[in-house]
Amino acid sequence: MDAASAADSSTSSATSAAPTTADRHQPVLLQRCVDLLAPALTGQGAVMVDCTLGMGGHTEAVLTQIPGVTVIGIDRDPQALALAGARLAPFGQRFIGVHAVYDDIAAVIAAQGLTHVQGILMDLGVSSLQLDETERGFAYSHDAPLDMRMNPTTGMTAADLLNTYTVDQLVFILRTYGEERFAPRIARSIVARRDQKPWERTAELADLVRACIPAATRKTGGHPAKRTFQALRIEVNGELDTLQRAVPAAIGALAVGGRIVVESYHSLEDRIVKQAMARGIESSAPDGLPIELDNHKPYLTSLTRGAEKADPDELAHNPRSASVRLRAAQRVRATSTTSANATSTFTPHRPARTQETRR
Ligand SMILES: C[S@@+](CC[C@H](N)C(=O)[O-])C[C@H]1O[C@@H](n2cnc3c(N)ncnc32)[C@H](O)[C@@H]1O
Repeated sequence: MDAASAADSSTSSATSAAPTTADRHQPVLLQRCVDLLAPALTGQGAVMVDCTLGMGGHTEAVLTQIPGVTVIGIDRDPQALALAGARLAPFGQRFIGVHAVYDDIAAVIAAQGLTHVQGILMDLGVSSLQLDETERGFAYSHDAPLDMRMNPTTGMTAADLLNTYTVDQLVFILRTYGEERFAPRIARSIVARRDQKPWERTAELADLVRACIPAATRKTGGHPAKRTFQALRIEVNGELDTLQRAVPAAIGALAVGGRIVVESYHSLEDRIVKQAMARGIESSAPDGLPIELDNHKPYLTSLTRGAEKADPDELAHNPRSASVRLRAAQRVRATSTTSANATSTFTPHRPARTQETRR
């Protein structure tokens, strides 16, 4: 769907049964995110960056509840940007939509004449729109081309990956991003099958994965292809590499007093977020120094005790909230760009990737 027709469909629910943009994705921990960000956003000229605009649910709540704030909404998915743009049009110039990858946050705010912002929100992963748009190939339950790109205009598709990666590369991504016990068996089958026919369709992959998983194991843990599809999606979109750059970049873009809230849905995502925040929350003074120099003092304070989860009420009405881990922090002092932007130490060893996906 192109941007224009996507925007049209967001307003068509009055005359047809098509879901509205708001119906297409139920934001997770919505009020908690707004409550955590609000104290930083009440000053004059406050700006928040929603790094994962999606259907604009979190941004709409922020714009509605916090009158003076402007939100810059980033998404790499042009369809999401068009739908959210139409939904948020009533807020006029208080909303600015930007097509970008979120690790470009410094350039995105610089283009608006800013060096720092007062709030940053990251609600990671895919939106329900992306999962429900069957033709985009994210879902194992619908037959579609094996695409899975959040930005369908660039980068390698899931089919490209399945048709070119070595067995070792496939084992790595299935194990690391999908926590798939049967990764070697599935990887070998993927490579053997492409020698006869290149990979094209999601149903073919779902069938192959099902056949690789022993019948007894198939009875537990949901759909047998769930872990493989998650792993491929993370790899196709370079999700963890991008996040590793993005969290330090986002913290670097926070003004003193500014707040960052991150919602993760996977233990590897949460680990990256936790480590990047911990670097700012803990003193960097070497052991044994008699005094703590100013540049070793923490530059963040945590706003959450560990990672927060959804409560039973939200779990009952929003299945997406089941795996959420929310962390939030506030900047308490300025830092040089280099110390705020240090990269994460999380780098699992992996076979080289052949192509980078951007935008
Ligand atoms: C879980 S959804 C966000 C939902 C949103 N909070 C709402 O209330 O509708 C995540 C969105 O982030 C986008 N996204 C994921 N990774 C991204 C990246 N690296 N850069 C920019 N956008 C990204 C996806 O395309 C998707 O639309």
